[in-house]
Amino acid sequence: LDKSLRTTSIENDDTVIIYNRVPKTASTSFTNIAYDLCGKNRFHVLHINTTKNNPVMSLQDQVRFVRNVTSWREMKPGFYHGPSFPVIPLISRLRLVSYYYFLRFGDDYRPGLRRRKQGDKKTFDECVSSGGSDCAPEKLWLQIPFFCGHHSECWNAGSRWALEQAKYNLVNEYLLVGVTEELEDFIMILEAALPRFFKGATDLYRSGKKSHLRKTTEKKPPTKETIAKLQQSNIWKIENEFYEFALEQFQFVRAHAVREKDGELFVLAQSFFYEKIYPKVN
Ligand SMILES: *[C@@H]1O[C@H](CO)[C@@H](O)[C@H](O)[C@H]1NC(C)=O
Ligand SMILES: *[C@@H]1O[C@H](CO)[C@@H](O)[C@H](O)[C@H]1NC(C)=O
Repeated sequence: LDKSLRTTSIENDDTVIIYNRVPKTASTSFTNIAYDLCGKNRFHVLHINTTKNNPVMSLQDQVRFVRNVTSWREMKPGFYHGPSFPVIPLISRLRLVSYYYFLRFGDDYRPGLRRRKQGDKKTFDECVSSGGSDCAPEKLWLQIPFFCGHHSECWNAGSRWALEQAKYNLVNEYLLVGVTEELEDFIMILEAALPRFFKGATDLYRSGKKSHLRKTTEKKPPTKETIAKLQQSNIWKIENEFYEFALEQFQFVRAHAVREKDGELFVLAQSFFYEKIYPKVN
């Protein structure tokens, strides 16, 4: 799907975008922008919900899904978001801390919803120093399996093979991968590349920064000691290596897509043209 998006059917009215949401990476802010724009820019937005939010889809579901999405004309052009499918995800650093607090306090997006660990007042630091399971390095193993794919080895926390597979997929299977820390630039580049969907997204994001950003309530930043302890784990090192890889790739794409002028970023205009077109028409 994503490959054909990059080559043949890019920006046609039958374009389908699959947005791979990685939990706690500002993905909700980003999907809200799609919902805000879909009326005006005339495309459909669909949420893919999977049972128990399982990020692994059965093989038969993968086949069903591809068949359904490619043939469902009424929903084209379409923007699908849900777990575990490639095209334009965001990843972020240190999301374990954010997720830890999210489970305890929720966020300002759905403040009334009762969260799984609500009532547990232990800080992230206390959890790490007492070796709690909710802050164990194994819990950091989330971004790599998301990018790695539907292979058993992808879920083997700390696997170098999974890291390499994730890197391979990041550069080969995705149109663009953004990082949460640079969400605005990500949106700007998407608007330049896919205006059929994202025309107006940058302005919308800038004007509504507060309303689009979802804040985990009661977040206490981890201490130096906590960070040092996490950083000793092999799992953290490998996830961090993946983050650095994604960041570098994003900065590379950005460097070729925008220019800075007076402290502001501008997307570059088209810089390829055609000439010597034959046969001549008259
Ligand atoms: C997923 O969507 C189906 C169909 O709309 C709905 O019946 C179900 O309750 C949803 N499940 C969750 C967990 O939201
Ligand atoms: C795709 O799935 C949806 C939901 O199950 C269904 O309503 C729709 O008719 C399907 N489209 C095609 C073309 O199969």
